[in-house]
Amino acid sequence: MNVIEAIRKRRAYRSLDPVEISDDLIREFAELVQISPSCANQQPWNFIFIKEKEQLNRLFTVLSKGNKWVEKASMIIAIFSKPENDCIIGERYYYLFDTGMATTMLILRGTELGLVAHPIAGFKEEKAKEILEIPDEMRLITLVIIGKHSKEINPVLSDAMKLGEKERPPRKKLEDFVYLNKHGNKFYE
Ligand SMILES: Cc1cc2nc3c(=O)[nH]c(=O)nc-3n(C[C@H](O)[C@H](O)[C@H](O)COP(=O)(O)O)c2cc1C
Repeated sequence: MNVIEAIRKRRAYRSLDPVEISDDLIREFAELVQISPSCANQQPWNFIFIKEKEQLNRLFTVLSKGNKWVEKASMIIAIFSKPENDCIIGERYYYLFDTGMATTMLILRGTELGLVAHPIAGFKEEKAKEILEIPDEMRLITLVIIGKHSKEINPVLSDAMKLGEKERPPRKKLEDFVYLNKHGNKFYE
């Protein structure tokens, strides 16, 4: 699969089947995020790969109500950082941007391997940090849910989520966010 295919194929699926998680897979993800770009090469990110059943079960207790589908995860990747880990230029804080870019590398590779790699923000941060023993000053930015896409739609999904398994949720029109040369000068009519 080339990059354009991985970008187009990536979906935030919520119906998951179990998949074997090898140490080689973890190593590969880790080595890909390691070479992601970051402001002044600050590499602000931290990753915890959680595959132990007991620890996964503990994390399932901190999910938001709509995220019950996560209970089918084979691995959860916890991604955390703090503002001081990266460039702060005036009011521009780069830790979220750079950590997000690194996370995308892992998500695209997961997609290429035929896995679902679905980032979520719907969890109780403080409780999750306690379970994972993440220091107080860190922001637990996202959990990436890893599994295999199931053809059986998970019955815990809402109707909107069930629809999302079949088709990609709608996007803004290109003319609403793409400009040429200056803001407001539309590239698309
Ligand atoms: C930062 C972030 C947080 C998200 N949080 C959740 C979440 O808590 N629960 C969920 O089911 N999906 C979550 N999603 C998935 C989005 O809903 C999904 O990416 C979006 O609807 C577009 O669908 P697509 O990725 O399949 O194109 C999140 C995605 C991102 C990037």
